[in-house]
This record gives sequence, structure tokens and C-alpha cells, in this order.
Amino acid sequence: MKIGVFDSGMGGTTILEAVKKRLPEMEYRYIADSENCPYGEKPVGLLYEIVRDKVEALRDWGAELIVVACNTATVRCIDKLRRDYPDIQFVGTEPAVKLALSTGVRKVLVLATPNTINSERMKLLAEKNRQIGQEVDLLACPGLAETIEKYYKTDLGRVKAKLNELLSRDDSYGAVVLGCTHYPLVKDLIAEYYPNAQLVDSANGVAKRVEELVRG
Ligand code: DGL
Repeated sequence: MKIGVFDSGMGGTTILEAVKKRLPEMEYRYIADSENCPYGEKPVGLLYEIVRDKVEALRDWGAELIVVACNTATVRCIDKLRRDYPDIQFVGTEPAVKLALSTGVRKVLVLATPNTINSERMKLLAEKNRQIGQEVDLLACPGLAETIEKYYKTDLGRVKAKLNELLSRDDSYGAVVLGCTHYPLVKDLIAEYYPNAQLVDSANGVAKRVEELVRG
């Protein structure tokens, strides 16, 4: 089976690797759309057009299943993609809020792009999964995905400077959700701000869902 995966750059490779681990025998094509990074700060109409082009390129290659390896494109576009391309199975990536809350911690922080944080879906995820006494804080990180995309391999100093602009040290969080697939690429740097938190991401959850669909 042919599986297509895309993101606004290298972030989605964190998802791709997890999927490949479970399903090594599949054929994969990955689109790293760094040209259009950041997705997280684009108007939704334009974002859909960009995302549609990736989907069509993967469909033309023969993908039967497409992993939207991007939280932003998932929360903003996946419903319409499912309506517009009924022959393709889509698996999206959503901030792992449920996983973070299921550990029973009192306070969870979600880091994600402005488009993800400001979506209705994000608010719903936080409300739906919260138990009494649990608190979910949301923090939009403008410019972070783009900085990671540009510099995570060549200049971590630039990434550190951006993190310093956006984050402050806080030991009250028990879990931090990396709600953008670029963030796990610099997980260790983010962890320094949250000494008591477990950092969680969606890669394993997405890979599990893909495996369920493929193996039926
Ligand atoms: N990696 C993406 C996400 O998971 C988008 C980053 C961006 O292009 O803003 O949200």
C-alpha cells in the first residue's frame, strides 16, 4: 500500500518515523513543504489551497492513505479534505491533550501554532478531556515552527533565542503537549523550561491509528 505523508517542512518526519516503525513494509512518500512554512500563521482559505496541492500530488503518486503530519493542517483542513477527497483515507495529527490529561496531572500546557491554538477544535479537545480539578493552558508560539524549520540543524542558538522570547520557566506543569510536529525536533531545549513536566507528542497515537486502518 502507498502511504503519503506531508507537513510544512521537516516536522512531520517525527510522525513518518513512528508510522514506518509499525508498518515498515509499506511504500512511503513524504512531502516537506518548507516553501510554505509556516502553515500556522496563514489565513485558512490560503492554507486549504496549499494543503490541497500536497494532497493532489500524493494522490497522483498513488497514495490511498494520507497522513496529515501537521496539527495546523489537521485542525483547519481535515474535515474539508475528507469531503473533497472521499476516496482517500486521511489520518490527522491532533495535539495529544487526551494523553497528557490521562496521566492524571493537575496542570497541562499545550504549545502549538497560532492557527492551532485559536481553533475551535483546540478548545473542544481541552474541554472534552479535562477531569474536575485539571487545568489546560494554551500557548500560541508564533514563529517557532519556522525558526525550527530553518535552524534546527544548523544554528540551535537561533532556536534558543526564539524559545526565550516565547516561553518562561515554569515548574507548575505536570505535562506539556508538543502540539506542533516541529517541536519534538527540539524537545530537549523545550524541556529545560518545564522541569517537572513530561513532554508528550502525537507521533505514536497517529502511527497506531494508521496501523489500525491498514491492517483493518
Ligand atoms: N508542523 C506543523 C504543525 O504541526 C505546522 C508548522 C507551521 O508550518 O506553522 O502544526
